[in-house]
Amino acid sequence: MKFFIDTANLSQIKEAHDMGVLDGVTTNPSLMAKEGITGHDNIINHYKAICEITDGDVSAEVIATTFDEIVTEGEALAKLHKRIVVKVPMIKDGVKAIKYFTSKGIKTNCTLVFSAGQALLAAKAGATYVSPFIGRLDDISTDGLTLIEDIRTIYDNYGYTTQILAASVRHSMHIVECAKLGADVVTAPLSVIAGLLKHPLTDNGLAQFLADYAKAAAK
Ligand code: E4P
Repeated sequence: MKFFIDTANLSQIKEAHDMGVLDGVTTNPSLMAKEGITGHDNIINHYKAICEITDGDVSAEVIATTFDEIVTEGEALAKLHKRIVVKVPMIKDGVKAIKYFTSKGIKTNCTLVFSAGQALLAAKAGATYVSPFIGRLDDISTDGLTLIEDIRTIYDNYGYTTQILAASVRHSMHIVECAKLGADVVTAPLSVIAGLLKHPLTDNGLAQFLADYAKAAAK
């Protein structure tokens, strides 16, 4: 399973990259705004900076919501760097644009997906990635992980190659469960990825090993 980091924060992207576990980056307009990145030129330069840190795909989301505008904006984003994946919302014109980008060899990430039917449409349009938002489903008392399971079943039934990119990941067990269900990619904040490291028995065991080593060395 690939690990993407879900942030526009350059130092966190670098930290995940340096850990050796980073396969790509996802951003969205809210994450860019959180880092204080505003204005067209700053946003473009920030995408370029992200692409220089990671070796993997970088999702850059369009703001446009009509077909012609999505195509214009998406083509401009795709030209920025070979690692850019155009992130397109799950709306009618978005699906049409994904089909267009696919025909031009431009990678896409279909975002804001909350149902298996939407994921089926994204696959039929040829999206490179589909992003089901599991945490936001959990937030409204709907099981986000069941959606991952349903999409996996549907894609496997028909051999769709669209990669399931589990998004809106809130805790480390989401990552583990997505891996068990066969998600192709998980995107998560750095804190959630780092959460996988934690186990009290590891901490206690290491402390004991180091203490025993020091005791033996002092003899
Ligand atoms: C996905 O690509 C989105 O950027 C993200 O995962 C949304 O997560 P949130 O629900 O925590 O905002």
